[in-house]
Amino acid sequence: MIRQLLYRSGQLYEFTTQDMLRLLLQARAFNAQAGIGGMLLHQDGLFMQLLEGPVAAVDRLYARIASDPRHCEVRLLVRAERHMPLLPSWRMAWAEAPVDGELPVFAGVETDHTALDLLERAGSDRVAATMRAFLLGAPVPNGGLGCAKLMERVL
Ligand SMILES: Cc1cc2nc3c(=O)[nH]c(=O)nc-3n(C[C@H](O)[C@H](O)[C@H](O)COP(=O)(O)O)c2cc1C
Repeated sequence: MIRQLLYRSGQLYEFTTQDMLRLLLQARAFNAQAGIGGMLLHQDGLFMQLLEGPVAAVDRLYARIASDPRHCEVRLLVRAERHMPLLPSWRMAWAEAPVDGELPVFAGVETDHTALDLLERAGSDRVAATMRAFLLGAPVPNGGLGCAKLMERVL
């Protein structure tokens, strides 16, 4: 069995494209050696991330990510055990949701279309459905995100 975690959070740091590329490179290097995969989504100052892999390794990584000061109001949406990962061949896929009328924030970070296709094909799987809804701009589950709103006023 593998651990599957899905959380969402609010961005609390003004990431440049370079910062985001560096984060993904570092995450991919670590995740590859820990056998962890998943996908990081960004939409209008919010993150959603899927983490999948060995139970103890994913739980440990999530604890580290949750205390990362670059985001806030980290809320766990799904904590499950599954036979198979939803995204088997991805160390950490990436996609940014379009925000109406605005240019992509991280235009230089390559979208993983293969991972997006897998989410589409996963049909009614609740994790895939939650991630697809996030990318379509649906309200983020679990409310909150006061810190992200505060950040909007500060920036
Ligand atoms: C939104 C977000 C997602 C992240 N995802 C990962 C990840 O998938 N894998 C990873 O190793 N680090 C990830 N990180 C970085 C970790 O929070 C942390 O900085 C990194 O693991 C290094 O930990 P350390 O400073 O305790 O050594 C992420 C950070 C953020 C803000």
